[in-house]
Amino acid sequence: MEELKKGTIEALLHEERRFPPGEAFRAQAHWNDKGIYDKAGSDLESFWAEMSESIDWFTPWEKVLEGEAPSFQWFVGGKTNVCYNCVDRHLNTWRKNKAAIIWEGEKIHDRRVLTYQDLYRNVNRCAVALKRLGIEKGDRVTIYMGMIPELVIAMLACARIGAPHTVVFGGFSPDALRDRMNDCQAKMLITADGAWRRGNRVPLKENADEALKGCPSIKKVLVVNHAADARDVEMEGYRDVWWHREMDRSGNEVVEPEPLDSEHPLYILYTSGTTGKPKGLLHTTGGYLVGTHTTTKYVFDLKDNDTYWCAADIGWVTGHSYIVYGPLSNGATSVMYEGAPNQPHKGRFWQIIERNQINILYTAPTAIRAFMAWGKEFPEKFDLSSLRLLGTVGEPINPEAWIWYRKYIGYDETPIVDTWWQTETGMTLITPLPGITETKPGSATFPFPGIEADVVDEEGVSVPHGKGGYLVLKKPWPAMARTIWGDDQRWQKVYWDKFPGYYLTGDSARRDEDGYFWILGRVDDVLNVAGHRIGTMEVESALVSHPDVAEAAVIGISHEIKGQAIAAFAVLVSGKEGSKALIETLRKHVAEKIGAIARPDRLFLTHELPKTRSGKIMRRLLRDIAEGRILSDTSTLADSDVLEQIKEQYEEGEK
Ligand code: PRX
Repeated sequence: MEELKKGTIEALLHEERRFPPGEAFRAQAHWNDKGIYDKAGSDLESFWAEMSESIDWFTPWEKVLEGEAPSFQWFVGGKTNVCYNCVDRHLNTWRKNKAAIIWEGEKIHDRRVLTYQDLYRNVNRCAVALKRLGIEKGDRVTIYMGMIPELVIAMLACARIGAPHTVVFGGFSPDALRDRMNDCQAKMLITADGAWRRGNRVPLKENADEALKGCPSIKKVLVVNHAADARDVEMEGYRDVWWHREMDRSGNEVVEPEPLDSEHPLYILYTSGTTGKPKGLLHTTGGYLVGTHTTTKYVFDLKDNDTYWCAADIGWVTGHSYIVYGPLSNGATSVMYEGAPNQPHKGRFWQIIERNQINILYTAPTAIRAFMAWGKEFPEKFDLSSLRLLGTVGEPINPEAWIWYRKYIGYDETPIVDTWWQTETGMTLITPLPGITETKPGSATFPFPGIEADVVDEEGVSVPHGKGGYLVLKKPWPAMARTIWGDDQRWQKVYWDKFPGYYLTGDSARRDEDGYFWILGRVDDVLNVAGHRIGTMEVESALVSHPDVAEAAVIGISHEIKGQAIAAFAVLVSGKEGSKALIETLRKHVAEKIGAIARPDRLFLTHELPKTRSGKIMRRLLRDIAEGRILSDTSTLADSDVLEQIKEQYEEGEK
């Protein structure tokens, strides 16, 4: 495994560098005693039982954990409501008028602050509207929006009435949106007339209209007026209604939060896997709330007077857990930014931090590498001294980026929490605890208390420290996904079959001599492009859906900023001539089919693909060619001339 070797060498160079928590930080941290690991490790259920006390339950649970792989239930018999915990319960405290959400629009003067009271009022008005429009407990509601407060309001309103939401990232295409709505048979779509991105309006409503041509289950579309003149927006007769009208109509009416079983579905979130069809991971109520609440508080050492900013998009799990549910259930002030980091200038993030006196920043390595490439002069223009903790998530962070982040953003003082987790895990699982852990740049360090992670070989046996292998989780945790929506079999097959009883993460990792975990990357056909998870099969299917393409293979290649970039090899149908224009057309075609995040960075037209004698595409060899490496074992290749041809074409394309 070439990636394993590369990661190992890089890690070895850096594992000597250590950053202990500063004394001042340690002294005031929620957790500063290593004993918490033993406490949680020795009695997992008591540990989570204690953590669950921070949540308000309508009916107390009877049992912490029940079931066995692959279906666990947490806080069995308990009834609660996630929206109640994120909103209502703060109103009886001094937090009533505390800022819950500080929103910065992409346009520099667009700024809104919603207190917990504001949030309460708006969430209720939205919940009333949802009910009036026919949504009942259990109905699925798709939300396709940019990063605006209405997105959070809509999610919380769904949670309030027990209608599972499924948020679709605003950068996805109409096809991707349609597939996701159909998969979960959503009854309603909540969208906006546009979103601002790099100064342009993303045509969300137009995309939604296109998607809705094939979605018979959707009965109503609620449209937020945000980025267009409402008079210019085409509204479809009986189906489409304006958000602001419906909110007005709700007046001051309230809906009592529905007491929901711990295992009631909270949301479905689609993510890429190794087949062309994205998986709808199902997260439920009680365990997810306890898991995200606990990790937000202890991993970010969140205090009541902190201003906290997770710069992810709510279209991904990071935004669900660490912009919305974790922070709001803690009564935090959560900052939300609509736009791109370089809009209208490359110092925009730092300006947001200075302006709001942000204390905690959580972002992705890709963003940090882009900031590095733009230069330290941008952060240097702003006062970032309010920051006391930094976090990263989504992909391995190279030690250089880690050091840069700490030096220029954290003024060589702030702890950095490199948090490893997944859509499936719901909450962060391998992470430093900032008041306890001595960090090493590039390592996500240790499993969170109560989490049992291991690195195993093909047989599921723990490998010695220093060796790479499959990253697995040996014990359940409360925020884990419960299944793939509508496909329990796939849930079992993808995550639990390889090593019975263990959850297979799909990542490889190694532990160093001190037991630190170093995540090395995916071991399956899933790419991580700029922190976005994309399946190679999805891109391949998009390519072959073009009439000129007979066959395609997609691989990930190293990219300085994005971590990985997409390289595609396409074979044209016979008689079709290749051209630069066709290459562009095909790249664009993928963007239209899936979304701009999946557009191949490089696309090569070839006469054939390297295959084994049994017809399997040898992606490994394509990776060797693309990375300019000496070709690895070619003995199983059916026709070795193919490689020479592809190599030539590749090198030609490089010029
Ligand atoms: O490969 C790991 C990588 O991102 C994958 C999960 O992607 P997704 O479900 O989209 O969730 C991303 C946000 C939680 C993982 O299988 N990954 C995530 N965090 C890290 C990481 N790789 C290395 N270090 C991390 N901190």
